[in-house]
Amino acid sequence: MKIAISGKGGTGKTMLASLLSTVFARSGYSVLAIDADPNVNLAAAFGLPNSEKIIPISKMDDLIEERTGARPGQMAPYFRLNPKVDDLPDKCSLKHDGVKIMVMGPIKAAGSGCYCPEGALLEALVAHLLLKVDEMVILDMEAGIEHLTRGTAKGVDKLIIVVEPSMRSVITGYRVRDLALEIGLQNIGVVANKIRSEKEKEFLTANMADFQFLGFIPYDEGIAEADRIGLPLVDSSEKVMREVKSIVASLDKPK
Ligand SMILES: Nc1ncnc2c1ncn2[C@@H]1O[C@H](COP(=O)(O)OP(=O)(O)O)[C@@H](O)[C@H]1O
Ligand SMILES: [Mg+2]
Repeated sequence: MKIAISGKGGTGKTMLASLLSTVFARSGYSVLAIDADPNVNLAAAFGLPNSEKIIPISKMDDLIEERTGARPGQMAPYFRLNPKVDDLPDKCSLKHDGVKIMVMGPIKAAGSGCYCPEGALLEALVAHLLLKVDEMVILDMEAGIEHLTRGTAKGVDKLIIVVEPSMRSVITGYRVRDLALEIGLQNIGVVANKIRSEKEKEFLTANMADFQFLGFIPYDEGIAEADRIGLPLVDSSEKVMREVKSIVASLDKPK
């Protein structure tokens, strides 16, 4: 199964990506968790010490040159668009708590029009992960779906849009859905996060009535606290874990 996670910044995409990854891994899946947000922080959510020192793939200049034939910064028209990437999930990941974590990192010109060698490498890597790898892949993205294309969207089994009870996150949710539908991605679900009351839950279900809600994760200080001090988010809140497990159970059902 391949799951992509998007939504407005701060809604809890990284929290959800890390918890889903660990819960799936604990139930026996081989899981690759991919940090595809230029603002990298997924490894920190797993509680990896010195996570800020991890070199993202987009900054591995030697690897990029070896695979594409050009170094980042060279705008030469001479780099390979189909670099070899099949060994990267093992070579460029860290194993933690049963989950393989890969950090893609920022590319200079964010968005689809980046004709740079690091963009070509990441594009080929995402295509490989979504279309070829026989493992569970959980992609922690930014507030858009820039990493997906009409071709790679076919490999995504579920796009999860994370929202919190705010109009702005709802508006971003609609925007992400529009972008997803444009590239043919139709299997879209919503996870509501940071819910503090029935009223907040109703705000979201009323304003997103035609979305499929996969779950409602409560706000819990345990998560915020663990994040603040750099502890793993998993198991930092019983309430949140319970809901994430129920989301996993609903995703795990055969289609
Ligand atoms: N259910 C929750 N309860 C409390 N705090 C949360 C919850 N979900 C996320 N947070 C906090 O909100 C902030 C943003 O979460 P994060 O997962 O980094 O969002 P995103 O990846 O969407 O930007 C973090 O400080 C995180 O600890
Ligand atoms: Mg994030």
